[in-house]
Amino acid sequence: MSEAGAFSLRRVEAADAELLLRWRNAESNRPFMYNTAPIELATHMRWLAAELANPQSRHLVFQQGDEAIGYASLTDITVQHRRCSWGFNLADTPQPKGSGARMLFCVADYAFTELGLEKICSEVLSFNSASLRVHQRLGFASEGRRRRHIHRDDGVFDIELFALFADAWQTQRQALLSELLDG
Ligand SMILES: CC(C)(COP(=O)(O)OP(=O)(O)OC[C@H]1O[C@@H](n2cnc3c(N)ncnc32)[C@H](O)[C@@H]1OP(=O)(O)O)[C@@H](O)C(=O)NCCC(=O)NCCS
Repeated sequence: MSEAGAFSLRRVEAADAELLLRWRNAESNRPFMYNTAPIELATHMRWLAAELANPQSRHLVFQQGDEAIGYASLTDITVQHRRCSWGFNLADTPQPKGSGARMLFCVADYAFTELGLEKICSEVLSFNSASLRVHQRLGFASEGRRRRHIHRDDGVFDIELFALFADAWQTQRQALLSELLDG
């Protein structure tokens, strides 16, 4: 697992189910999901059990010391095309500035180094400024904008498409590591 200082990634276990659901349903996270409806426990348990057995997915908890402070998933892992998609959220308690960027540094490193993938794909609702900024900071390149792509009760929204490639990652990894995790 990726590890840097007090920060580490570990695989999600069945015992994390209720914690992850609480984070997913929190007011700090739900508005940034495609589906903003609170998820029911039974639905979540079925989804998590299937996902933990899915070889095309990795579900990860980001920790500072022993405290779980974020969650990220790598999904649609495709060996033939050497790519995956990702999704993430922080815990439902306030986290220090930079926590998202630190977590995603470790997750990108895991995808490229441990899984040997060459591309991470990402989709972000166009109003999600924090997520847009964190993708930019990690070196993601724009792959365009899908217009009026998501219909929700509160409106119709565009999404931004991003990609990060392993070769670009290698050229900036050390600088990002010093900036985000060595300080
Ligand atoms: C997206 C998320 C992981 C970012 O984590 P974070 O810890 O808030 O972000 P960081 O502190 O690492 O900030 C990264 C950059 O975004 C900026 N930023 C943070 N919140 C911001 C906001 N609300 N508006 C604009 N910029 C913001 C920071 O200033 C920082 O910029 P810098 O690199 O120029 O200093 C976190 O906000 C989150 O969990 N959001 C809810 C779930 C979500 O949106 N998931 C992603 C769906 S695509």
